[in-house]
Amino acid sequence: MKYTASLVKLNIDERITARRKAALDRGIPVADDETLQFLLVTLEAVKPVRILEIGTAVGLSSVAMLYACENARLTTIELEEDRYLEAKQNFADFGVSERVNAHLGDAGEILAMMDGEFDFVFLDGPKAQYEKYLFDLKRLMKKGAVLFADDVLLYGWVSGEEPTPQKRHSIVDKIRSYLETVTADKDFITSVLNVGDGVALSVYKGDKQ
Ligand SMILES: C[S@@+](CC[C@H](N)C(=O)[O-])C[C@H]1O[C@@H](n2cnc3c(N)ncnc32)[C@H](O)[C@@H]1O
Repeated sequence: MKYTASLVKLNIDERITARRKAALDRGIPVADDETLQFLLVTLEAVKPVRILEIGTAVGLSSVAMLYACENARLTTIELEEDRYLEAKQNFADFGVSERVNAHLGDAGEILAMMDGEFDFVFLDGPKAQYEKYLFDLKRLMKKGAVLFADDVLLYGWVSGEEPTPQKRHSIVDKIRSYLETVTADKDFITSVLNVGDGVALSVYKGDKQ
């Protein structure tokens, strides 16, 4: 049972709120209010300067993150070209283009070619790939960096609170495998929270060679 969603007051720029609503009405998968609020709370605590987002959609959580972290730069990756182009337009409209490095393409391929040291990762792309991304994310994260992975409970299917529909067993197994791997990894300390559709919050405490 969840009691928290109705208590969330998301205080973001009203122009972002309007575009989020318009995007949702068109079926664009933007983070829900409860998740975005928790993301912004986490960012306020961490105060990152280099943020990596996997799964840009149309860039509205990206803008909210950059408005919350005035000194941060964001790298973000999106597979679908129409969403990527709309995100670029949103970055221009909200005056943050110069702080964004937006990539169009498959996150797995782009992560493998990337370097840099991020202090915050918003993992919100294809859920089935989360575990596969971990190898590169570890390489790209600074000691103390936070990995915020969204949708890890997936309607209660992952925890078993709700029965998994026949066609969704594969994705549920992959998310479970991600959670098992990240919680067993001694380079991370992880907590899974019943926020939005489930958030796994992991802090990277490994040393770089
Ligand atoms: C949940 S949405 C992201 C929402 C966004 N972070 C927000 O809060 O507004 C996930 C996005 O990941 C994108 N995506 C799916 N597979 C991908 C891949 N292999 N590489 C990069 N992006 C991918 C989808 O097109 C979709 O826009």
